[in-house]
Amino acid sequence: MARNRDFDKVVEDIKNCFANSPEPSIKITHYFAIYAELFSHLRGTECTFVETGVLNGGSLFMWREWLGPRARIIGVDMNPAAAKWREDGFEILIGDQGDPAFWEQAFTQIGAFDALLDDGGHQSFQQIVTAKSAIRAAKKPCVVVIEDTCTSFMKEFSRHRDRSFLNYAKSATDLLVANANEFFPGEYPHIDNPGVVEEFQQVYSIQFYSGMVAFQIDPAPVERPVIVWNKEADKFQSDFRYEGVESAEVVWPDPFTRQVVTVRGGRGN
Ligand SMILES: C[S@@+](CC[C@H](N)C(=O)[O-])C[C@H]1O[C@@H](n2cnc3c(N)ncnc32)[C@H](O)[C@@H]1O
Repeated sequence: MARNRDFDKVVEDIKNCFANSPEPSIKITHYFAIYAELFSHLRGTECTFVETGVLNGGSLFMWREWLGPRARIIGVDMNPAAAKWREDGFEILIGDQGDPAFWEQAFTQIGAFDALLDDGGHQSFQQIVTAKSAIRAAKKPCVVVIEDTCTSFMKEFSRHRDRSFLNYAKSATDLLVANANEFFPGEYPHIDNPGVVEEFQQVYSIQFYSGMVAFQIDPAPVERPVIVWNKEADKFQSDFRYEGVESAEVVWPDPFTRQVVTVRGGRGN
């Protein structure tokens, strides 16, 4: 959704739904604009919205108020106390999001969903298992959002070492491009892991926000992309790619280690 005056109103609406929820909920203030961007197309529709992490139940009421009465809101939590929100018309699944077997069973019950927001245990492996399971289970265009990616950097969560959720998601962005390897025979490194390329086949975009990563999914078989010209050129112009300066000095965008590197240009090695 474009960030214009209508967008501001949608953000205001969700902030009000949060503030007026009858039960406690914990969020971070800049998340509301991200929710508006990722989920506002579902408002007023007969959608299925899944949130991992119920805690005091407050966010379930926020989603229902903001998305509208036709929304099917499903909360997932390991704490059996969350089951009490069934009395308020929410579907609640009790289980461990870190266990792929739980998700397999859960998605059989959930069926096709439109959005899944993970605000659960926040350990990297739990976030990874949740994202992978949801991507695999997707049956229609949907978005899978992992919230609180700040935990990838936090001491309390550091037992993942360098295998954090954020590193997983950054690596996954390569899969979006690895698919194009057939256009450029002999140009790419050998694809040694075709299974994972296949696994992410239906992810067409990975969006990084402050504190969230969104996987946009479309399971419909896509037409195989082909390279096209709009018309035949009778004479090809020279491409000046290699005619300008030959390198750039770049401060690498790593917040934790300052590295100034030279990125060289030119053809081949
Ligand atoms: C941050 S709270 C959820 C906050 C809630 N979404 C809100 O907006 O107020 C995290 C919740 O995740 C649940 N949780 C922690 N580990 C989990 C796991 N492995 N599987 C499922 N839920 C888990 C906790 O029991 C807790 O209720």
